[in-house]
Amino acid sequence: MTQPLSSSNDLTDNNIPLFTKISDELRSTGYSINPMALPENLAENLLQQLISMEKDKFHQAEIGRKKQLTRHESIRKDEICWITDESEAGRDWLRWLDEAQQFFNRRLFLGLFSSESHFAHYSPGDFYKRHVDAFKGEGNRILSIVVYLNHDWKAENGGELVLFENTEDQQGVKVIPNFGTVVVFLSEEFPHEVLPTHDDRYSIASWFHMNTSTTKRVDPPS
Ligand code: OGA
Ligand code: MN
Repeated sequence: MTQPLSSSNDLTDNNIPLFTKISDELRSTGYSINPMALPENLAENLLQQLISMEKDKFHQAEIGRKKQLTRHESIRKDEICWITDESEAGRDWLRWLDEAQQFFNRRLFLGLFSSESHFAHYSPGDFYKRHVDAFKGEGNRILSIVVYLNHDWKAENGGELVLFENTEDQQGVKVIPNFGTVVVFLSEEFPHEVLPTHDDRYSIASWFHMNTSTTKRVDPPS
């Protein structure tokens, strides 16, 4: 979970066309696929940060609630590392995400409150079977954002994201994990999977949450 970073309310003008397109597509279809969309220097810095992190900072991705973490290697096989504001690239990413959050809140009245982000590294043979990022009524994850950091991705590498329009959809829309592609979708509505990759595959996954405070329990603005 991350603190909102910017104290200023100014949005960086460069991001407005992208955030506008994403908002419009979220409103019409619930998802948005944007090739070559992340600012190139931000994407490059994130990739360098990811590569430079020692292997041991990654830990085997785990599924489930924090209290009962179990390894489900038959469902998911990748390594993740949470993104924090300790690195410059991490700070820049969180600032970009904060701008996106402000924009979507203003344009779509989504009430997004906080976010979490991790890097993911899928090694050859890794995959993530069909799943949803949030369950209806639990109200925590509202929007999912995935960004890809792979230069010169080849068709034979596989590793596509497949986004299904609804629970009945078996065909889905395939997204090639090319450098700079930004995918956004409503977390509860779109089952998706990562097909087995045949090369190292780097991505960022983030989720926006709403405020789940009640009168008895107050969420910190994290
Ligand atoms: C996830 C996820 C998709 C991807 O981490 O929940 O679905 O393409 N990632 O990396
Ligand atoms: Mn997912």
